[in-house]
Amino acid sequence: MRIVINPNRSVGTINPNIYGHFAEHLGRCIYEGLWVGENSPIPNENGLRSDVVGALKRLNIPVLRWPGGCFADTYHWRDGVGPVSGRKTIVNTNWGGVTEDNRFGTHEFMELCRQLGCEAYFSGNVGSGTVQEFSDWVEYCNMPGVSPMADLRRANGRQEPFNVKYWGIGNEAWGCGGNMRPEYYADLCMRYSTYLRVYDWDHMIYKIASGANVDDYEWTRKVAQIAGKTIDAVSLHYYTLPNDDWQHKGSATAFTREEYYSTLAKTLRMKELITEHGRILRSVEPKGRRLGLVVDEWGTWYDVEPGTNPGFLYQQNAMRDALVAALNLNIFNNHCDTVVMANIAQTVNVLQAMALTEGSKMLLTPTYHVFDMYKRHQGARQVESYAETKLISHGDWSVPDIHVSASEDSNGKLLLTVVNLSDEASAPLEVLSDAIGARATVAGTLLTGRTDAFNAFDRPDAVKPVSMSSVRVESGRFTAALPPCSVAAFEIDCG
Ligand code: AHR
Repeated sequence: MRIVINPNRSVGTINPNIYGHFAEHLGRCIYEGLWVGENSPIPNENGLRSDVVGALKRLNIPVLRWPGGCFADTYHWRDGVGPVSGRKTIVNTNWGGVTEDNRFGTHEFMELCRQLGCEAYFSGNVGSGTVQEFSDWVEYCNMPGVSPMADLRRANGRQEPFNVKYWGIGNEAWGCGGNMRPEYYADLCMRYSTYLRVYDWDHMIYKIASGANVDDYEWTRKVAQIAGKTIDAVSLHYYTLPNDDWQHKGSATAFTREEYYSTLAKTLRMKELITEHGRILRSVEPKGRRLGLVVDEWGTWYDVEPGTNPGFLYQQNAMRDALVAALNLNIFNNHCDTVVMANIAQTVNVLQAMALTEGSKMLLTPTYHVFDMYKRHQGARQVESYAETKLISHGDWSVPDIHVSASEDSNGKLLLTVVNLSDEASAPLEVLSDAIGARATVAGTLLTGRTDAFNAFDRPDAVKPVSMSSVRVESGRFTAALPPCSVAAFEIDCG
């Protein structure tokens, strides 16, 4: 099976933010997953658990979206600042009706971003908030001088501004964010956007409009047409469900071959969605303004694990999820002229997570390992890659057997990432490129296992990457063999 890498052709630089994440006040994502508090017996730094933060740090996370999701449009940021003992208690009406005591708020989230070394992406409340409240949050975070909100921030212990760059203007305004029509939202979005001020010209802000669900192209068209001159990007949400029925989405680990292939086929739809939403943005964006597409929620969504709170969206994560992550990231890389940011849902203990926790225990999921293997694509120049594929069909579903993306870093090193989608056939690869010289070296890393293989707390390393010993390199080419259901990353030093 031949793959060609052609560094002469590129659609652009892979924005590091494509490797972004999302953490919502939902289930055990923030509380227990990230935040345990300073007095917890679980090792922590300033209340943030050290095992999870340490693992996430290794991924070089560029940007983290917070506090929702649907939670964002019920969140009032003032409830989460100031002395913890005085913080207001609210009900998390979207996610299990649990009590939210707001002990994790703006300052705690910014401490998380500091420890991770990433940018913050705040999703502001449009659905149940006010323009003034949202405007005040930006002033609170970003005003360097004297002002009511900057003074409040200082009184709460933070002298310097946080300089938050990314601001989402509501979330899913077509649904949990207010059930709005696109025209109504677009007008509101312009109004909110007007009052989200820049307080320091060295720290511009980037405004992201609440975008479409899946293939709601009319939403994208109207929002971009009406509000396009006041925003920088429009978002898109697309989750992969094995079955279309929300009551029976399918299990994370006990699934049929049909569901394996339906999951992969539905994931591949991301390419069509990006292409079409991108085409619409290009056709309606104001002259001289290029609107980005921010896929700020993506990933698998299954039935919750038996016995867990249905409102907590806790699911296991198998090799199938590793393939879903790898396919989406390949698609984002290859469309980096359109996709400026993407945020997998969600970081810990919710949906397609990087890490799962149980009390003081933590495990890393197969999805985590894919992000680790792919991280060198961040900021690299996408280069054209092409695989001679054949179609695999099962039941109603057909997918190509191989899926690829490639990039070149500033030192001329290539990274090729390859997915073997077949659940039964190995893929002998012949990778061709004129860039591969006589003294080239190739380091291959492989993640593979049964489609339903997963890491559990009593066997946390059942699925983990290994280095490949079977790579043979010569001038202009190298060969390797990929087992069924696998993801590989090849770092090519061209010599
Ligand atoms: O990620 C879970 C939920 O999915 C988010 O809160 C919402 O935006 C989406 O519907």
